[in-house]
Amino acid sequence: MSRLIVVSNRVSAPKDPAAGSAGGLAMALSAALRKYEGLWFGWSGETVERFTGELNIEDRAGVTVATVDLEPQDVDEYYNGYANKTLWPLFHHRVDLTAYERSYGEGYERTNRRFAEVLQPLLQPDDVIWIHDYHMIPMARDLRRLGVKNRIGFFLHTPWPARQLLVTLPHHRRLVKSMFHFDLLGFQTREWMELFQRYVEVEAKGVVGPGGRVEAFDRSVQLGVFPIGIDVDGFLAARDSLLGQKTYDRIAASAAFRSMIVGVDRLDYSKGLEQRLLGYEQFLEDNPSMRGDVFLLQVTPISRDDVDTYQDIRARLDALAGRINGAYADMDWQPIRYLNRTFRRDQLAGIYRAARVGLVTPLRDGMNLVAKEYVAAQNPDDPGVLILSRFAGAAEQMGEALLVNPFSREELSDAIHKALTMPREERIRKWKALMQVVRDTDVAHWRDQFVRALIN
Ligand code: F6P
Repeated sequence: MSRLIVVSNRVSAPKDPAAGSAGGLAMALSAALRKYEGLWFGWSGETVERFTGELNIEDRAGVTVATVDLEPQDVDEYYNGYANKTLWPLFHHRVDLTAYERSYGEGYERTNRRFAEVLQPLLQPDDVIWIHDYHMIPMARDLRRLGVKNRIGFFLHTPWPARQLLVTLPHHRRLVKSMFHFDLLGFQTREWMELFQRYVEVEAKGVVGPGGRVEAFDRSVQLGVFPIGIDVDGFLAARDSLLGQKTYDRIAASAAFRSMIVGVDRLDYSKGLEQRLLGYEQFLEDNPSMRGDVFLLQVTPISRDDVDTYQDIRARLDALAGRINGAYADMDWQPIRYLNRTFRRDQLAGIYRAARVGLVTPLRDGMNLVAKEYVAAQNPDDPGVLILSRFAGAAEQMGEALLVNPFSREELSDAIHKALTMPREERIRKWKALMQVVRDTDVAHWRDQFVRALIN
């Protein structure tokens, strides 16, 4: 087929896929591009005093990557500003944390225009363009203004917000209108897609046709649900690698027959980490006899640390983990091991495998691939139990997990107790059903379904 041009803000194809510690989006996109010929375009992550549009092109593990440096002002207004202080909190239902600054919106528009101007000369007539995530919503409109006629698809990795919240954004209509320059809009779940449809019906007097075509703003666009998945075989290979095995053995030795509960999340307020620690504290309170037999390994790499709301949540988590450890620890036992660092994928796979419980409790999340990785890493004859927030996109597919309301500390405490005491047959039955879903809707399935829908 024609070339696939993948566009995303962060371009982080790992040089060695087993070593990669990149987030879900980056891992999924590098897997996508290893199958299709093409290139991956986006921000280099670097700044330059004056924007030149000069491209850095390199080959990373068989993927051609083309990036541009941005000006510090672009990074402030577009990435830290509109993307991470405006759209991210808004799309995760946190209007209380959303910044509504005019300069951020202007920087976002300017930077998207810059991306479009740099990408346009690289395009060939048959190329299929696939743009990712909230950083780049207006880019199809900007490419069309430059005369680009190619098929252009968009996939939103985050949730789409409820209409009542989206309308708090100045120029919300302009943002949504720009999306009608795509040929296909992909969402993680039916719920996010229906929220988009509702906005269009109410705010733009649009019409939702059969088969998911939506008409508004004198244009039309096809909608679809494409739940993202993981590279199951790659992840199993990482788990069974020497380092994956060693990590498993190391944890088993250090756990000394205690049950490990694991959480792995970027340090982000959307992940429900405070509520999770409070729920775990409640569990310790409710079950004095289980103290000392269990511990929580919470792996939380620092993220977006230039943004004040992220600094705030970091300080609150430091205090909370310290308080709970101070209150409950014994001379030879600590209830929480709280780590602000990343691990290689093979190590992570070993960690998940060693955990009796996987705790994935975001307050709102587009999909959440930790849930899928946790399931994939389990021992089939003695699997652990996944506790999953009902507000993660993954809950739409993973109903066999213990679904919880992450805002309720009592519910979290009860779920942890239930998971730790669940009989083996029940664990195996649930795991089999979950593993089937993880396998059937892996990353290749996601990519192929989206690309097929885009070229049709
Ligand atoms: O969709 C959210 C997301 O793009 C994830 O896929 C990814 O793990 C994370 O955000 C990375 O955020 P950032 O690029 O700001 O570090």
